[in-house]
Amino acid sequence: MTEHLPADSATPDVAPSGCPVAHGGGPVTLTSHADVVTAAHDDATFSNAVSRFLQVPNGLDGDEHTAFRGVIDRYFTPERMATLEPVVQKVAVDLVAQLSLPERVDAVVLGSWFAVQAQSAWLGWPAELEQPLLTWMGDNQAATRSGDRERTAEVAARFDAIIRSVTDARRAAGDAAPDDVTTELVRDTVGGRPLTDEEIVSILRNWTGGDLGSMALCAGVVLTYLADHPDLQAHLRTGVSDAELDAVLDEILRIDDPFVSNRRRTTRPTAIAGHEVPAGEVVVLSWTQANRDPQVFDDPDHFDPFTHAPHNLVWGTGRHVCPGRPLATLELRVLIRAVLDATTAIEPDPRRGRARSEPPLGGYAVAPLLLR
Ligand code: HEM
Repeated sequence: MTEHLPADSATPDVAPSGCPVAHGGGPVTLTSHADVVTAAHDDATFSNAVSRFLQVPNGLDGDEHTAFRGVIDRYFTPERMATLEPVVQKVAVDLVAQLSLPERVDAVVLGSWFAVQAQSAWLGWPAELEQPLLTWMGDNQAATRSGDRERTAEVAARFDAIIRSVTDARRAAGDAAPDDVTTELVRDTVGGRPLTDEEIVSILRNWTGGDLGSMALCAGVVLTYLADHPDLQAHLRTGVSDAELDAVLDEILRIDDPFVSNRRRTTRPTAIAGHEVPAGEVVVLSWTQANRDPQVFDDPDHFDPFTHAPHNLVWGTGRHVCPGRPLATLELRVLIRAVLDATTAIEPDPRRGRARSEPPLGGYAVAPLLLR
């Protein structure tokens, strides 16, 4: 969400990453695949302690990070995703069934609706929160674009209030609390002690803030790509395996990565990308640009899922690699399958032009399609 979606989106101290390698003033931005991978793997030099707010686990380093990743990774195991699959599949099928074809849709709006409903189903959140969450997503994107700290802080506080309304209700319900992911998290422990309220809110902020905005942008990019590539669309309609569809999704997102960047702070003087960077400097890792580095992806627009997979940085790399990847992939897969199954064609809308998101966001702001 922003310069980077999950980690920084809902926090007030996000600095937009505008210029490429900045001189005098702006942060150094790493754009080559090699530099981004080097920084992501050298977490002793490139620390994640960038924000002045608690960010679990994305703002943590070293052993503390390892301990919290141990907690978080348990929520995204293959067994859990298998149990969740029919639930989010139903959300996707029901949502798409509401379209009366032929219908004009904005793929980002469709993605937003799906993201909110799928996430509420995953976390066990009440349907009454769907509209406040959708409103929040729009406000958050606008605040992020504005670069206005006060506005971003207000939006972040509103989001925390939504999260606390859910966690407080779980605590108050005691033994009568529903048996779902949110209750499990509220009762979870790290290093033998209960998670604090602040930690729980931070984890949920990262999951929800990151998931919602990123999912909507990913849906916009993938559905638009399919509209522009009828041959690929026709191939997917023949019925491909989950593994092949997942590889296709990853490759589309590599070509047009809506999850733009993440930040690090140097712990010691270092040299990278031809720059001498002193200790304490912010360095931006541009996933979007690294994913289109011609040194690695000869022709960055060339679609080749299996050859490009080992170098794909859509989900990051190193110790902070996205733990939510299995969930995000599952959600995207069921959404795309539901749209393909319910239609005979996904086409660009000839009546409405599309619009790219403005930096620091990636993907599309408006992605109009005609579904037949
Ligand atoms: C929808 C598409 C998504 C994309 C493209 C994406 C991408 C990424 C990337 C590139 C990172 C690495 C950040 C870094 O190195 O600083 C990351 C981290 C993270 N993502 Fe995702 N993500 C997505 C969805 C999700 C979802 C659904 C969740 C959880 C529900 C999630 C949770 C996280 C968390 C907690 C981290 C921080 C991990 C850490 O610091 O150890 N993401 N994500």
